[in-house]
Amino acid sequence: MISIEEKLKEQHTKEDLCLLINVILDTTKVIDYKVNQGALSNILGATSEVNIQGETQKKLDVICNQLLKDSLKSCGLVRTIASEEEDFVVEGHSGAPYIVAFDPLDGSSNIDINGQIGTIFTIYQARNDVASNSEEQFSQAGHAQVCAGYVLYSASTMLAITTTGPTSFYTLDKNSQAYVLTTDSIELPTQTNEFSVNMANSACWSQGFNNYINDLVSSDNRRGRRFNMRWNGAMVADIHRVLSRGGIFCYPTHFDTPQPSAKLRLLYEANPMAFLIENAGGKAYTESTRILDLKPDYIHQRVAVIMGSASEVDFCLGYLD
Ligand code: AHG
Ligand code: MN
Ligand code: MN
Ligand code: MN
Repeated sequence: MISIEEKLKEQHTKEDLCLLINVILDTTKVIDYKVNQGALSNILGATSEVNIQGETQKKLDVICNQLLKDSLKSCGLVRTIASEEEDFVVEGHSGAPYIVAFDPLDGSSNIDINGQIGTIFTIYQARNDVASNSEEQFSQAGHAQVCAGYVLYSASTMLAITTTGPTSFYTLDKNSQAYVLTTDSIELPTQTNEFSVNMANSACWSQGFNNYINDLVSSDNRRGRRFNMRWNGAMVADIHRVLSRGGIFCYPTHFDTPQPSAKLRLLYEANPMAFLIENAGGKAYTESTRILDLKPDYIHQRVAVIMGSASEVDFCLGYLD
């Protein structure tokens, strides 16, 4: 049994990065306890606040955001923090080596149904050419991440993480409270027969993307095999399934608004997931660009997302202009 601390050491991960990863993971253990307790922890239900995304914040969104923010601000290793639930960046410790962005609670609509939810995080080196309270700290391409990961709170609590090397899975041992290595190096199958998309949005999609999905499910079996569909409504859970057994996950552009729009956030959803997927041998694109080549124009920027098994992502992109 190898713990995350032991594995990071074995991989010669810098000591301050190990410490920072541990700060984040210790906080996810507190979140995990509250999630497990559910109604007994008084974490269910909504607040009366609306976040910068225009979403009503759930109690757990706010609690998880506060826990992560507090631990990152006090650890002395983080210069700047960005969160889905914070309008602006939060200043940490000036001169600290790293910046961290996170989605404190992913899959908010699953909280009150005892469904799958998660926490997504990403770490970059701090920039010395911009101020510690500047959003510009996060104007870095996704391939510059030094670590990305998520914790999935589900039947088991699991961590997926990459520190630029392979993507690995760890399972939280609730007895010892250690994240224990359970899959060392994930290799995504290149082919798949499973897709993940919110079909309720089909009226908003481009013709090209509609054609792709129609071909996956056509009765005349145009792809030569039958595809199945899965949608958890939490990116962490859907990407965990893709990393576990292959698949393609899509959240394409919507064309039902005056300007085309996307839902998922580049900095703390698309980029960390793209890093995990690529480091497991998969591909991650917007409809036109490799996600990891994009620098966020602002911290809450949204992008279309098509990621998963490499040859299926290529196939899907072939339908798009
Ligand atoms: P969050 O709960 O952090 O706001 O993220 C929700 C995101 C993502 O997790 C998921 O893939 C997607 O929204 C679900 O969207 P639908 O409402 O279309 O199911
Ligand atoms: Mn949200
Ligand atoms: Mn999310
Ligand atoms: Mn969230």
